[in-house]
Amino acid sequence: MSEMRKLKTAVVGCGMISDIYIRNLAQLFSVTELVAIANRTVDKAKEKAAFFGVPKAMTIDEVADDPEIELVVVLTPAPAHYDIIKKMLLKGKHVYTEKMFTTDVDQARELVELAEQKNLLIGVAPDTILGAGTQTARLALERGMIGDVTGGVVSINRNQNLNSELFRFLQEDGGALPYDVGIYYVATLVTLLGPVKEIRAFTSPAPVHEREFLFTDEKKDSWQIPGSNVVSAALKFESGALVSLHVNGNTINNEQNLIMLFGTNGIMKVGNPDTFNGKTEILLAENDWVTLPFTHGYNGENKVSEPMPFDHYGSRGVGVAELAYSILAGRSNRCSKEYGLHCMEVLKGIDIAAETGTTYEVESTFEMTTLTPGYYSTVFGGFGRGDAERSLV
Ligand SMILES: NC(=O)c1ccc[n+]([C@@H]2O[C@H](COP(=O)([O-])OP(=O)(O)OC[C@H]3O[C@@H](n4cnc5c(N)ncnc54)[C@H](O)[C@@H]3O)[C@@H](O)[C@H]2O)c1
Repeated sequence: MSEMRKLKTAVVGCGMISDIYIRNLAQLFSVTELVAIANRTVDKAKEKAAFFGVPKAMTIDEVADDPEIELVVVLTPAPAHYDIIKKMLLKGKHVYTEKMFTTDVDQARELVELAEQKNLLIGVAPDTILGAGTQTARLALERGMIGDVTGGVVSINRNQNLNSELFRFLQEDGGALPYDVGIYYVATLVTLLGPVKEIRAFTSPAPVHEREFLFTDEKKDSWQIPGSNVVSAALKFESGALVSLHVNGNTINNEQNLIMLFGTNGIMKVGNPDTFNGKTEILLAENDWVTLPFTHGYNGENKVSEPMPFDHYGSRGVGVAELAYSILAGRSNRCSKEYGLHCMEVLKGIDIAAETGTTYEVESTFEMTTLTPGYYSTVFGGFGRGDAERSLV
């Protein structure tokens, strides 16, 4: 039997989230061959390449010019995405990008068109929606476990102002809570309920945040996270479901994540969509709440190495692997450019609806199929490789 072709892949960006991607693309998924790591400062790329045994360390332009590289994974902050994605598409490379797709809907539309002209695929995070949690919830909805979803209540909170002291990219475009974290909730909602059709909303900005440096002689620093940091929105889905979305970055960090969907035959709670293993709970009339077993793999557990930072994000890269299988099969991928554009338009549409005081009509739409159920086998204490990857083929 001939061996399956692996997609020659490069990672661009060597920040916090990169280790988990690099490890999984190099060691977990069979469909990617990680051949290069790139960064603005090539020293950092060299360090990572040496640590993970990746052959090449490069600049971003060298990745674009390397004919061997077929797929580029962009792990830089959102304001850098547009330029890097465009550069790679123009050089004929497929791209997977961390969220948000870009910081501007028109730029995202332009990239969608460019990819179409060039017959290339783009994948867009979050790929947590391909994890065991969201895929289990989706299968349960497809099987009609709570009937037709008529509405829902969704909420997420953090102290994004405090967090932006520590993570400076949160001070830039894309750093407000709706974009940084609300995106996981929007992505999960559209994965479960399909596209949003209409939006009404109110929003509030982040306050000017002052940071005092207690232990150094640096002066006081102050900034305001751009965009809306509190959102109260009403989303009407193409299916007719009505969902209240509350995202609040101007409160405390004790995260209270809530996704509750109400159906004609029952109620479903979906676990934290910022992870791969959120539990799906179901309440049917005259019953108690029950937790469903996962119907799918990719539950976030580290299957390949010693414990690492960001292990709780352990299945990151499943969207890249699914994209790679889609490229090989000549089909569209699940975390598609249309999905990425739609998630982004919904978040931007909330801002426009709030600013104008009118209903925002969403233009973009997308389709996505559920993954085939499949697990990693649990032989040898959980380290054995099973058939979960077949669910991506
Ligand atoms: N950190 C997390 O928990 C997390 C989780 C999920 C997704 N993400 C997303 O992943 C991406 C990266 O996040 P991170 O936490 O690793 O960020 P980071 O700030 O730790 O690292 C960003 C990397 O991008 C490079 N970079 C920055 N600006 C650039 C530019 N203009 N051109 C080229 N390279 C540039 C930096 O050198 C750095 O290597 C972001 O889109 C973020 O939203 C982060």
